[in-house]
Amino acid sequence: MSWNPVQARSTVFAPEVEVLRTARGSMTNYNYLVIDPATRRAVLVDPAWQTEVIEEALLQARAELDGILLTHSHPDHIDLAKPLAQKYGCPLWMSRQEIAASGFRAPELVGIEESAWWVGQMLIRPLLTPGHTPGCVCYLIGDNLFTGDVLFAEGCGICPGVDAAHQMFDSLQRLKRELRPQTRIYPGHSFGKKPGQLFADVLQENIYLQFRDKQGFAAFRLRPGQSRAKLFEFH
Ligand SMILES: [Fe+2]
Repeated sequence: MSWNPVQARSTVFAPEVEVLRTARGSMTNYNYLVIDPATRRAVLVDPAWQTEVIEEALLQARAELDGILLTHSHPDHIDLAKPLAQKYGCPLWMSRQEIAASGFRAPELVGIEESAWWVGQMLIRPLLTPGHTPGCVCYLIGDNLFTGDVLFAEGCGICPGVDAAHQMFDSLQRLKRELRPQTRIYPGHSFGKKPGQLFADVLQENIYLQFRDKQGFAAFRLRPGQSRAKLFEFH
């Protein structure tokens, strides 16, 4: 990537990332509070399940919530989006593609594409990475990538068919091209590894990042025993 003042400015103050593990019943998700250390303005990624955990983190961080970033529209990623947006009077950001595909609606909803924007002195850069859903977005903030169900440390999100698996392959190839090795990966779920793994390590250890052809990737992603029901089997 060539140098430009916008990109350079985004790395002057490293954002603070608060990892919030929330659960309801058998469902466990990672939500993230990302704070600009200079202004204490913050964004929340994929809030779900436990309002009290999120509000305590906001309080402890002395942060002001500027908005909510949604990676996609699955219930375990948007669970608390509407009530928190209403309570804090802040926007909910989701890709236009995901809004169109899901029918998700809220008064505070703002459709986005790939234009970056500032929250305090943090540059929020959305990367469209479809496959798990038609409008999945990863958000790059400084050297932190919030991946929802696109990329886990140990795998990638399930895909509902061959076309979706091909899209996922392209999305993962894009991340391989564009991410720096020192980027930290913050997924919506963990299957064993702590959130915040270095992309350099994920790149070596994640089998889904080893495929070189779309067809081989799709055949593996869609192998038997990986039913859609597993979308909601997390640990
Ligand atoms: Fe999902």
